[in-house]
Amino acid sequence: MQTVQKVVVSLNDVIETISPYVHGQFAEHLGELVYPGVWVGEDSPIPNTKGIRNDVVEALKPLALPVLRWPGGCFADNYHWRDGIGPRKHRPMRVNVHWGMAPEPNHFGTHEFIDFCRMIGAEPYLAANVGSGSPLEFQEWVEYCNFAGRSALADQRRANSAKDPFKVQFWGVGNENWGCGGNMNPEQYADEFCRFRTYLFNYPGQSTFAVAAGAAGTDGPWTARFFERLARNYWDRRGMVQGFAAHYYCGTAGKSATEYNEQDWIELLAKAHFMENIILGQRAIMDVYDPARKVKLLVDEWGAWHPIEPGKPAGGLYQQNTIRDACVAALTLDVFHNHADKVYMCNIAQLINVLQSLLLVEGDRCIKTPTYHVFDLYRPHRGAQAVRLVSCAQEIHNNSQEAAKTAWSPSRHSLQAVHGSASVKDGVLCVTACNTHPTTPVELELEIHGGKLPAAKVVRLATKDIHAHNTFDRADEVKLSRAQNVQAKGRFLRIEMPPGSVIRVMGPLA
Ligand code: AHR
Repeated sequence: MQTVQKVVVSLNDVIETISPYVHGQFAEHLGELVYPGVWVGEDSPIPNTKGIRNDVVEALKPLALPVLRWPGGCFADNYHWRDGIGPRKHRPMRVNVHWGMAPEPNHFGTHEFIDFCRMIGAEPYLAANVGSGSPLEFQEWVEYCNFAGRSALADQRRANSAKDPFKVQFWGVGNENWGCGGNMNPEQYADEFCRFRTYLFNYPGQSTFAVAAGAAGTDGPWTARFFERLARNYWDRRGMVQGFAAHYYCGTAGKSATEYNEQDWIELLAKAHFMENIILGQRAIMDVYDPARKVKLLVDEWGAWHPIEPGKPAGGLYQQNTIRDACVAALTLDVFHNHADKVYMCNIAQLINVLQSLLLVEGDRCIKTPTYHVFDLYRPHRGAQAVRLVSCAQEIHNNSQEAAKTAWSPSRHSLQAVHGSASVKDGVLCVTACNTHPTTPVELELEIHGGKLPAAKVVRLATKDIHAHNTFDRADEVKLSRAQNVQAKGRFLRIEMPPGSVIRVMGPLA
């Protein structure tokens, strides 16, 4: 059975410019992400530039990723940046206590991270250690990275072969400080935030953006109590908090990343779409304290979290990535675009080999996941003006009973067939959408209000099997289709959406 679903795009209903940073990424020292996902070392037989894998850089460069958060995650509040500078043979071996007690040789440190960011064109976002670090250590890291003049720290950076400062704008003041970042309560963290933030200086020519560690998903009290404490200390008036970062993982459904049935599919997508509630809820609480929205909302960790693949290290969070995960990514990015007035930066967890990754690497091979292709498909939205897209409800499935098994509010879990977002840049309309149903094809009837879209190019990410994924032997099982030209018939464009597919429709407005 094919369903027709009307989607209306209202060009005059402008939401806000989509911050390019909502397509951000996250890379933690965890499992096989940094070693060997990024770093193989200069002497490795795997082709590399300054120790960084060429295949990974070549795969990521075309995406022009806007920002990369590093070194954690939980790892950040255990990381001492001085361990990762200077000659590699003198760097200390540490234990990665959060992630499987793995050896941490510190061969990939601040300089290597900046090299990697420059190779792929991403802006660096450093997460500093609050849980087990000190304000002095934080201040010195900032000065080491950002000071262009003469000081012992800037000279040390130069001696380590970086003449020019690294120009790091984004600084996380801890990570999940309600948990692995020190098990603090919100008032305690607010006090620590103020103390650490005092020492985050803007060195000449480089402004900084301080990110406070926000709530886990639906934890509204963390947010309210954090901002309440800042307000009582008059800190809210000093403009010292630029960002507040919530985390939300939609988790998993079914047996594993690749073994699930149709109900599991719908359950996971419903949980992914719950991101909308996280954003609305968190922003509403922040608005009480900051109605002018000077403090930006970030979601600097998000994505699917499946059981670890058999044969992979217990602490490594390695998972496969299917067309279902592509739909998770598409739905979530569309939510970010539709709330462009509320979210500033979002970072999917994580870039390579960990959780919902863009790439998987093994030995000297590197493959793109279905999630990679969604980021590729959705690129034109970055920096474009989000306009309202309304999916006129066609109730083709409702998994409220399934969702009731989860911790989330069941009433929020009815999924429409199609979710999407729309934006305009330089007179070109870009509409992206996901057919969330695993078995029902949809004929999308796209109606434009406030202008005309006479013709468009359609690119799809679609598969025959709802479990389809890429492997090292079949790397292109899931890939983007060639662009197809579609002409408007009257006021509408009609576009086929196979079950469980993602599309982009783009064309110049008349
Ligand atoms: O992304 C994996 C972990 O999830 C991060 O280290 C932590 O911040 C979160 O709990």
